Amino acid sequence: MKQIGTLALGVAVTIVCMTAVAPAVPSKSAQGSSSPGRDAPSGAVDDHAEDKENAHWLSSDWGDARDQAERHFRGLDVAMMEIGHRFRELHYAGIDHNWPYAQYQVEKIELALKLALERRPKRAKSAKPFLDETIPYVKKAIQAASKRVSAESFASVVDRMRADCMKCHVAENVPHFTVYIRDTRISVIGTGEAP
Ligand code: HEC
Repeated sequence: MKQIGTLALGVAVTIVCMTAVAPAVPSKSAQGSSSPGRDAPSGAVDDHAEDKENAHWLSSDWGDARDQAERHFRGLDVAMMEIGHRFRELHYAGIDHNWPYAQYQVEKIELALKLALERRPKRAKSAKPFLDETIPYVKKAIQAASKRVSAESFASVVDRMRADCMKCHVAENVPHFTVYIRDTRISVIGTGEAP
């Protein structure tokens, strides 16, 4: 947890520092002759011009910039969107028997949740059983499934995880955020021969 905190802070500081020393607008040669914004499509309104309000959205005052960066990192909401996506991917990784992908997804769910709890420590108590028990249980099940030694179907493992997501939603007073296992595949990742 400490290491993740240091890492996250390091990334935040790097972003802030890089932004502080970056020129307000890229040089003419970097922009090209039609001079659209850095990421604007050709012919689009230049939204990074020097005289525009958003040329520098991050304050040059470190205290203000830190407040801004904290707001932009968000709390649990965006992390939960990520976790929702990864949970669905985990389910399909199991159906595909794509165990390295399943392992990857459970690790990213853990990371996203830990970082979110660093930003919102009041939620940590409700998440503790999920981190201490559910995540290790799922990781173990993936190991067993990949070695074909599991008596348990991976679908039931995913369903237990779903129930444990809900325990935290109930504890955090959002029981109406009901987690389902969806039977519609929307990912661009799958198995088989790539075309
Ligand atoms: C801290 C305990 C906790 C755990 C564990 C947890 N959630 Fe959440 N989840 C929340 C809270 C709280 C919200 C409401 C968002 C907010 O208050 O910022 C939420 C919201 C969500 C949302 C809605 C996000 C949005 O803004 O659209 C999804 C999707 C979601 N959770 C999925 C999951 C899934 C899937 C799992 C399990 C793999 C899970 N959650 C585990 C606490 C948790």
